Amino acid sequence: MSDSYALFGYPVHHSWSPFIHGLFARQTGQDMEYRLHEAAPDQFRHDLLEFFFEQGGCGANITLPHKRAAADLVNELTPRAQRADAVNTVLRRDGELMGDNTDGVGLVTDLTQNLRLRFTSPRILMLGAGGAARGAIGPLLELKPSTLLIANRTARRASDLAEEFSGFGAVSGAAFDEVEPLEPFDLIINATSASLKGEVPPIHSRAVDRATACYDMAYGIGETPFTQWARDRGVTRVAQGWGMLVEQAAEAFFVWRGVRPQTRPVLEALHARAMYLAAAANTRS
Ligand code: ATR
Repeated sequence: MSDSYALFGYPVHHSWSPFIHGLFARQTGQDMEYRLHEAAPDQFRHDLLEFFFEQGGCGANITLPHKRAAADLVNELTPRAQRADAVNTVLRRDGELMGDNTDGVGLVTDLTQNLRLRFTSPRILMLGAGGAARGAIGPLLELKPSTLLIANRTARRASDLAEEFSGFGAVSGAAFDEVEPLEPFDLIINATSASLKGEVPPIHSRAVDRATACYDMAYGIGETPFTQWARDRGVTRVAQGWGMLVEQAAEAFFVWRGVRPQTRPVLEALHARAMYLAAAANTRS
């Protein structure tokens, strides 16, 4: 029987993870299956995860809206999951559920290896102070930024988050309208969920110039509102979160299987499939 893995979230039917892990498994010759488990917030409890592992489950991914809850449900946290206060990967070690978080390392791997962005003491602007932002702060501070400014609609959330990480580097928090940059940022990351409403966080145009890299953790077919905003201002180094999606999955795969898959062919397959689905949707409409 194949080793069993699963993604818990709500909703999860749209997830790309079975496709990604299926390609990783084929590429590395691992005998495993990866299924989707839709669990509403009131169903997502310790015993649901325990049951999955007792039935022979080997590892789980956790996605929205359960990442914070999962940090309380597992028995132990890795240091990076503890810093993120969120879990996206679970494994069982010595009978105990261990929670890990591969989102932040997935983002930084995409920035530095796939997109080949080279930073020396970068000035970074993080838009948003929710779960997605929180998971990225620790790994981004490892890039030794001269500034990591967290800007958020609700200023208090930004300053609280900055305060939590203040022991790890030069991080501060502000409301969007307090961001009045004297010089452009080297990197702006959109970790808000504003795209879901077709909106862009209200950021001063002086925050970018042609050399700025703009990264949207969200991903979709065509431009997101934020990547379009960046292009409209002449920014050319613009990316969506497809690479982060694949890299966080590769890190989870490594945590579970001890084998590191190659991500480039999987990213290419993902783009090809996304384009095919977009073309098919256009044909139908
Ligand atoms: P996630 O886990 O995806 O980060 P979240 O914890 O609900 O989800 O956080 C959503 C983030 O997007 C928050 O920073 C939120 O700002 P607030 O803290 O002020 O709520 C931000 N956000 C959501 N909609 C937004 C919008 N239309 N414009 C700007 N920021 C928005």
